[in-house]
Amino acid sequence: MTTILVATVKGGSGKTTISTNLAAALASSGESVLLADLDRQRSSTEWLGRRPADAAPIQGAEWMKELGRPPADVAFTIIDAPAALKTKQIEDVVAMADHIIVPVVPSIIDEAATLRFLAKLDDIGSVSKGRKAVGLVGNRMRAGTRSSDRLAEFMTKTGHRPIARIRDAQAYLDVVEAGLGIFDRPGSRYATLKEDWWPLLEFARYG
Ligand SMILES: Nc1ncnc2c1ncn2[C@@H]1O[C@H](COP(=O)(O)OP(=O)(O)O)[C@@H](O)[C@H]1O
Ligand SMILES: [Mg+2]
Repeated sequence: MTTILVATVKGGSGKTTISTNLAAALASSGESVLLADLDRQRSSTEWLGRRPADAAPIQGAEWMKELGRPPADVAFTIIDAPAALKTKQIEDVVAMADHIIVPVVPSIIDEAATLRFLAKLDDIGSVSKGRKAVGLVGNRMRAGTRSSDRLAEFMTKTGHRPIARIRDAQAYLDVVEAGLGIFDRPGSRYATLKEDWWPLLEFARYG
């Protein structure tokens, strides 16, 4: 079983978007997936509630009050973290995780907050000793904008791996409403967006 934590200290950076799309991508490739919601806002739990009965099944868990345990038959657990995590909570949830995905959107304010979060992760022995992979994902990227270019450059300088760039697209808002991810959808509009996800899926599987 592989556990992937999606976390950072900023709200609105794409934790839930990445968690739900990753869950949908793995489920649609036949994996047994648990989506564990740590956020009192319950965004990924509500997304699961909207998920159509004929979509690839994903199990849900609400771990806001305390961390649970994934059932034995689950191949991938994806943990959607809230923005506000105390140091102890970060330690506990990192202890459960095999790989950690840290999303960041193009904004100098978010870059600074990301550095503080990465420093907290580095305080944890399993992370600083390299036993857990930390992957940075640039989210809501827009080609040719100064802020996206700066974020791409920032991602090469944190000491952690830049793994993917997810573009800013209306399609993400459309699928989230329907309880779906882009990997639940066929068609050329989605094929282009899926390209952004291949390295992220590789990281989720193998670190
Ligand atoms: N790549 C993207 N393209 C377009 N909209 C996005 C993208 N990623 C996130 N969003 C939107 O930005 C908002 C915040 O994203 P969300 O995943 O909820 O962040 P978090 O869980 O970190 O608070 C949501 O409305 C979401 O639909
Ligand atoms: Mg969220």
